[in-house]
Amino acid sequence: MAKIAILGYGTVGSGVFAVVTKNQDVVSKKAGEAVEVKRVLDLRDFPGDPVEPYLTHRFEDILEDEEIDVVVEVMSGINPAYSFSKQALEAGKSVVTSNKAVVAQHGPELIDAARAHGVSYLFEASVGGAIPIIRPLMTSLTADHITEVWGILNGTTNYILTEMAEKGTAFSDVLKDAQKLGYAEADPTADVEGHDACRKIAILSSLAYGKTVDFQQIPTEGITKITAEDIAYGKAMGCAIKLLGTSKKTTHGISAMVAPYFLPVSHPLASVNGVFNAIFVKGDMSGDTMYYGSGAGKLPTASAVTADIIDAVRQTAVFLDWDTSAKLPVETKDEVTVKAFVRVAYSDAEQAKKACNDLFGVVKFVQLESFGDEFGLVADGLTEAQLAKKAALLAQAPAITQVRNIIRMEE
Ligand code: HSE
Repeated sequence: MAKIAILGYGTVGSGVFAVVTKNQDVVSKKAGEAVEVKRVLDLRDFPGDPVEPYLTHRFEDILEDEEIDVVVEVMSGINPAYSFSKQALEAGKSVVTSNKAVVAQHGPELIDAARAHGVSYLFEASVGGAIPIIRPLMTSLTADHITEVWGILNGTTNYILTEMAEKGTAFSDVLKDAQKLGYAEADPTADVEGHDACRKIAILSSLAYGKTVDFQQIPTEGITKITAEDIAYGKAMGCAIKLLGTSKKTTHGISAMVAPYFLPVSHPLASVNGVFNAIFVKGDMSGDTMYYGSGAGKLPTASAVTADIIDAVRQTAVFLDWDTSAKLPVETKDEVTVKAFVRVAYSDAEQAKKACNDLFGVVKFVQLESFGDEFGLVADGLTEAQLAKKAALLAQAPAITQVRNIIRMEE
């Protein structure tokens, strides 16, 4: 009999409790022995909830319990999640988590602690919710040098952008729905400002390329500035808008970015809608592979957590190809080369177009009658530094009244 403890009875914690208790037959069969929840840590009480008999407010009740082999850390934020994980690993317990903030910030140290104590630190659910992505990277694409990993890594923002595009709903109303549905974090800043996707692409990149990628070095922009007008321009160009986490191998390290991108509607990622996530991996031998599924939500995330619990109980955890002592250089934002859509308001159309042509070379303009005195242009092959400089010069040109938005484009 394997006994586990769950740290945190929030959305994911209550999901793990439900999966392990309701699917006990299949979980125990796959684990090779009965798996039971022994303790659940939370500061709150849950009168009348099935968790009541297991509830404790003291972490020591778990740490000092020698019967508990696996600790499931599904709290949010860094502390005390990080310190509880470290203590559990040092006490010889495997730790399973969905907490991407802790994995991105302290992953190398916690992997080292697990290795030193002969236990596992597993985090399949930290990226892509229910989507198997860490296992395929570590156990299937083992013959390849991975050259690119990128995709839609945040369910909340994908849900928001999909609703905005399909129903024309305002950003703030859709965000409230996402919170009600349990997709958005309690503090939605991490989702809508791209921080959550940034941590996830850092974790994937560290595993794909085998060295630590510091999430703090990845240029990151969220979706809060995306408007209905931007989405309309995208449609006119045959594009959907998606918050992407991208990372590509370069000769010295990687080029990575998190930002909203226009994608041609023919691209497989363009039809990934709602809370779904999808991840593209390019290998030098395998070519493109894509992984798709529910990227957030109580039971999908709990399903991935529980699969890790089963691996921890069976002691068959996959080998993590992550050299925790080596850091991979990340291009600075200024160095990243992009294709971008620039939206410009003007007082004189002819002069404004001339100013754009002078700065960006001969460009194609996109104009939507109903938006009045503005147009969009596509600039290609510029570094972010060049793009920012040209956009600043454009904003000062006499016939230009405003540079309204800049949105990157992927092919
Ligand atoms: N808030 C996250 C998302 C949860 O929306 O993707 C899953 O990591």
